[in-house]
Amino acid sequence: MRCEANHSFDIAAQGYVHLLPANKKHSALPGDDKQMVAARRDFLEAGWYQPFSDRLNQLVTDFLRPEDRPLLLDAGCGEGYYTGRLAAALDPRVRIAAFDISKSAVQAAAKRYPRVSFAVASAFSIPVADGAVDCLVNVFAPMAQREFLRVLRRGGRMIYAVPGARHLFGLKQVLYEKPYENPVRDVEYPGFRFLERVPVRADCSLSSAKEIRALFAMTPYYWKTPREGAQRLFALERLETEIAFDFLVYEKI
Ligand SMILES: C[S@@+](CC[C@H](N)C(=O)[O-])C[C@H]1O[C@@H](n2cnc3c(N)ncnc32)[C@H](O)[C@@H]1O
Repeated sequence: MRCEANHSFDIAAQGYVHLLPANKKHSALPGDDKQMVAARRDFLEAGWYQPFSDRLNQLVTDFLRPEDRPLLLDAGCGEGYYTGRLAAALDPRVRIAAFDISKSAVQAAAKRYPRVSFAVASAFSIPVADGAVDCLVNVFAPMAQREFLRVLRRGGRMIYAVPGARHLFGLKQVLYEKPYENPVRDVEYPGFRFLERVPVRADCSLSSAKEIRALFAMTPYYWKTPREGAQRLFALERLETEIAFDFLVYEKI
């Protein structure tokens, strides 16, 4: 691939393009590493988050009109669980692109979902032309409001998944003496009209230490839990927890 300034970029054997300039990286290998990507894939493939993925597929399908050959962009796609399920559910005329700052995650995604155009890139410098995107989805990845606004066309949708109030509450009860519910706010972003909050709830009952660790490694608590809390969790063979996503749906004005 070649950019306007005539720089060329190789398409990797796995089918993705690396479009993250060295000066935009905050470390040598930013984002989730290989081990975290593998843990995420194992956990997601067990199907615990499938109700969220199904609802996301529905929200996107209801909005896009395949006859217009629309472009869907998954920002911060990780190892591609939601992207891949969107690709399987959507009409083949819908074009699908996705990126993540983690090279390991994009490699895993590109290998498995050849229908999707994948890039290693940052949400704060998205390699997509102004107004080219019809629908942008973001599942638990950083919010880059200015870039999201730039790449979306007017009337385009942004579907932003955030944790619901009691998401992973059972897990937090093990990790913390005093677990708090997540704050629930309908955040306004300049340039967007807030359309709706779509809650999805489910229960998750894990019956092995491996699954519990894989879930833990996917969460932000992995990085900030005091040792005693993590040790309590590592001693468990079973865990029951609520899981809750809210999809916040916006329209670009
Ligand atoms: C919690 S994970 C969610 C991944 C995926 N959406 C999912 O739900 O399976 C957050 C993702 O954001 C990515 N990420 C972090 N900072 C980023 C940035 N500046 N630009 C793009 N992706 C980023 C991480 O590498 C990670 O894959």
